[in-house]
Amino acid sequence: MIKKVQSSPNMASLYPTIVFLFLFMFLGLTSHGKAAPTYTSHYCDNTTSFTPNSTYQANIKTLLSSLSSSTNSSKNGFYNTTAGRDPNLVYGTFLCRGDVSANLCQKCVETASNDIARRCVTEKLGVIWYDECTVRYSDQNIFSIIREVPGMDNSSSVSIPGDKDRFDQLLSDLMKSLVNRAAYDDQSGKRFATGEANFTSSQTLYSLVQCTPDLTDALCFRCLQSAIAELPMCCDGKQGGRVLLPSCNIRYDMFPFFSRNGTATIGLPSPSSPNSTNQGKRKNSSPIIITIVAPVVTSLVLLALGLLFMRKRATKKYNALPEENAVENVIGLESLQFNLGTIQAAVNNFSSDNKIGEGGFGEVYKGKLCNGQEIAVKRLSKSSNQGTEEFKNELALLTKLQHRNLVRLLGFCLDGEEKLLVYEYVPNKSLDFFLFGIVI
Ligand SMILES: *[C@@H]1O[C@H](CO)[C@@H](O)[C@H](O)[C@H]1NC(C)=O
Ligand SMILES: *[C@@H]1O[C@H](CO)[C@@H](O)[C@H](O)[C@H]1NC(C)=O
Ligand SMILES: *[C@@H]1O[C@H](CO)[C@@H](O)[C@H](O)[C@H]1NC(C)=O
Ligand SMILES: *[C@@H]1O[C@H](CO)[C@@H](O)[C@H](O)[C@H]1NC(C)=O
Ligand SMILES: *[C@@H]1O[C@H](CO)[C@@H](O)[C@H](O)[C@H]1NC(C)=O
Ligand SMILES: *[C@@H]1O[C@H](CO)[C@@H](O)[C@H](O)[C@H]1NC(C)=O
Ligand SMILES: *[C@@H]1O[C@H](CO)[C@@H](O)[C@H](O)[C@H]1NC(C)=O
Ligand SMILES: *[C@@H]1O[C@H](CO)[C@@H](O)[C@H](O)[C@H]1NC(C)=O
Repeated sequence: MIKKVQSSPNMASLYPTIVFLFLFMFLGLTSHGKAAPTYTSHYCDNTTSFTPNSTYQANIKTLLSSLSSSTNSSKNGFYNTTAGRDPNLVYGTFLCRGDVSANLCQKCVETASNDIARRCVTEKLGVIWYDECTVRYSDQNIFSIIREVPGMDNSSSVSIPGDKDRFDQLLSDLMKSLVNRAAYDDQSGKRFATGEANFTSSQTLYSLVQCTPDLTDALCFRCLQSAIAELPMCCDGKQGGRVLLPSCNIRYDMFPFFSRNGTATIGLPSPSSPNSTNQGKRKNSSPIIITIVAPVVTSLVLLALGLLFMRKRATKKYNALPEENAVENVIGLESLQFNLGTIQAAVNNFSSDNKIGEGGFGEVYKGKLCNGQEIAVKRLSKSSNQGTEEFKNELALLTKLQHRNLVRLLGFCLDGEEKLLVYEYVPNKSLDFFLFGIVI
């Protein structure tokens, strides 16, 4: 091209060529600049690994390429498939953000698949988050099952530009209505909802929530609730933040980071106008509201507790917060292991008198250790579909993240079929925390 320019002295005759070249470059740049998927975070579970060149590795490869080639057969941006047979069976899914085009979805899944194969070299479980999609695989069944770990969060470095209380209220209102929409009023089948609300006359808060569409209404709600419960811990006082879990994710910021056409973006009236809440309620007066009032109250309580707690410890905690990829540093578990006998004694051999609650993932018992400490023990149901390895791995993450939880995890017990999580018992905390907290 340069040669051609030099050899021809007649610039006029070159003009169309130059224009064409510029146009070509411009188009190339924009399609790359705009459509390039953006890496956010990833997690490779190094507690379960396979040997290089094994069948399992070959199956991961097959799985990832089958995910990459299946984006156009997915109507809702989600796809699940398996590769291989039983001892080496791999489960995989992709989830594209609800507003991305089929093209970008395809590109993102392809990029993310290549990327995770490079990043997780020998691990049996991997998750990679891009702005536009999530790709994950596991040696355990992950279809239609809620997974809230491993999780990542990330906050903007910019502080809230203005009244923090008003911001928190607005964010809470917006998240709440988006969660209800994604979980209980999912018209698109994508379990995806975006919204915006006026913070000031010139500043708008944007927010999105998304679950994998294989979750039921209730599981989607629970996952998003867990994600929201993280916000006071990760992102308090910041104008942007996101929480990424395998089964769902949320994000908010003060600029539009999703496409606002093509998706139903809800607008929220400003919370400072005293009549606005009434309007909101009147607008949403479908029968669904009745069935969701209880969970909504729960999530509000959680959020409020989180915010309160955060406010008390804000400065101290900020320094202690792990960096974005801190989940990779897993601490030793042995020191936290409880003896089954000790726990049985503490909770009166799981007598029904000691039972204080029951949730989808197991029963909760109250007990007292011999040193007098009161504990709450969550006994994971045997049908909870979770392998020992996976339990250990999730535990490792939990212990790493525990200082961010509201109720302290004291330890665990793993004995045969029995899988127990031991928390300090806090009488005034909502029981729902033990049942539906961030934990498993
Ligand atoms: C795996 O296969 C590659 C090429 O097929 C080979 O170079 C490498 O040495 C093998 N690794 C092991 C651990 O067998
Ligand atoms: C998906 O894309 C492939 C090529 O990229 C094409 O061959 C196939 O027909 C497409 N399938 C559908 C359902 O559009
Ligand atoms: C996807 O998951 C569902 C269960 O949620 C299962 O019935 C179906 O067979 C899976 N699809 C593939 C291709 O494995
Ligand atoms: C998340 O992290 C990336 C890179 O570390 C950063 O550019 C981005 O602004 C962060 N915050 C949000 C809210 O995405
Ligand atoms: C947004 O809308 C415009 C005009 O209706 C359309 O050309 C464009 O493709 C849309 N963008 C997306 C991402 O759907
Ligand atoms: C936000 O403010 C803009 C301009 O001030 C207005 O057009 C828009 O309707 C407002 N949105 C909501 C949800 O109140
Ligand atoms: C709020 O509602 C009351 C009566 O319901 C009305 O008198 C008042 O003007 C309203 N205020 C605003 C700001 O709309
Ligand atoms: C897993 O990662 C942790 C922290 O990065 C490291 O200390 C540990 O040795 C790794 N385990 C394996 C089996 O690679």
